[in-house]
Amino acid sequence: MKTGILLGSVVFAVLSFPAFGQVPSAYKQKKEISFETDVRPIFHDYCLNCHIPGGRGYNKSGLDLSSYESLMKGTKYGPVIKPGESFTSALVVGIEGRASPQLRMPWGMNGTLSKGNIDIIKKWVDQGAKNN
Ligand code: HEC
Repeated sequence: MKTGILLGSVVFAVLSFPAFGQVPSAYKQKKEISFETDVRPIFHDYCLNCHIPGGRGYNKSGLDLSSYESLMKGTKYGPVIKPGESFTSALVVGIEGRASPQLRMPWGMNGTLSKGNIDIIKKWVDQGAKNN
């Protein structure tokens, strides 16, 4: 009886103690990504030469990445961002080259977006794709 209680509290203590490995990622997760200071500069550096009115990407898809409003409008087929769902957002599918390697964005550059930049965009979408 007494041993049972003791065993129970040991199990409880072990289960409720956070694994050390999870601390850094939980910490990173908390950092709020800003559209203005984190995401927009990536679009500026890697996407805007094609995704503004008159550019190749805009002419073909209708996607204008020069502002939050135009990004959220998406392509002529519809939105490319689903707030909270980076995995199924067309823009993330595009930068990860999951639809087809030929359509990986930035287009024609063999996927020069770094994993770090891709993670910033994904996190921003997962945090609700806010105009922040
Ligand atoms: C060199 C020009 C170029 C650059 C740079 C470029 N794109 Fe594109 N983008 C295109 C073209 C062209 C299309 C249309 C592709 C097609 O439908 O054949 C397109 C289409 C897209 C689409 C729509 C795909 C769909 O689902 O229909 C998304 C999303 C996209 N680009 C995102 C980006 C992002 C994000 C960047 C920057 C990281 C980027 N693009 C950089 C040319 C470019």
